[in-house]
Amino acid sequence: MKILHTIADVRDELKKARTAHKTIGFVPTMGYLHQGHLSLMERARQENDVVVISIFVNPTQFGQGEDLDSYPRDFERDSQLAETVGVDLLFAPPAQEMYPEGYTTYVEAEGSITGLLCGRSRPGHFKGVTTIVSKLFNIVMPDRAYFGQKDAQQVAVIQQMVRDLDFDIDIIPCPIIREEDGLALSSRNTYLTPQGRKEAVVLSQSLFRAKEMIESGEEDASKIRAFIIENIRSAKEADIDYIEIVNARTLQKIEKVQGDVLIALAVKIGKTRLIDNIRMEV
Ligand code: PAF
Repeated sequence: MKILHTIADVRDELKKARTAHKTIGFVPTMGYLHQGHLSLMERARQENDVVVISIFVNPTQFGQGEDLDSYPRDFERDSQLAETVGVDLLFAPPAQEMYPEGYTTYVEAEGSITGLLCGRSRPGHFKGVTTIVSKLFNIVMPDRAYFGQKDAQQVAVIQQMVRDLDFDIDIIPCPIIREEDGLALSSRNTYLTPQGRKEAVVLSQSLFRAKEMIESGEEDASKIRAFIIENIRSAKEADIDYIEIVNARTLQKIEKVQGDVLIALAVKIGKTRLIDNIRMEV
């Protein structure tokens, strides 16, 4: 596996692959890799000739007072893990390479797709995401890019951006990977205290039970939402940011559970903000 730190080196390396008509699969990450990231890389490995990943903790997607400085980092471990799943090229730029002195250009999806859910609680977050992802897309120029469905809104925003800006890239959403007790894998799970870790399971449990309610015929979104709120409030350390039942593509709230449905939530367990969701065709 090659490890490169500059845009010029990545372009040089991938030019050779493109000239040889090889397909490129890309997994952008912020590092501190877990099985969720590795599952994206494995899928990219199966579907492409060349697999590229990036590790970059992107400062523009963190708001004031968020965890940019404390975000977990372990480059040694990450590069070893990436190698075990057959990654060919790891791009790990310093911040200065991506945002040099005098940087002024941003990419932003407007409207409800970024204004609701996490976008409402984290203003500017998706502007940072769409900016860095479009820069990475322009550098790597992949055929396919792989994103975890745990960040359901991020997937919807990137799909919207790819449509709007005519990126010739297939966006492949991949399933959420969970711990045995149901907790969705996230680099931020490491922030949880032992008590918080126990309580965090209430998120996935609530979503699974909501799914069962829908499968048993419940169609009223407000009843399902009320059930999830009550269930999550039973956990002492839980502080709800949002729980919404929306159309999975537009992210608009729905009253009747019908079509491509996404139940998405963000909850603080102690000081750790966690997100999770479940998507279902009803
Ligand atoms: O999902 C993430 O880890 C980040 O938002 C991404 C897509 C790598 C952009 O920094």
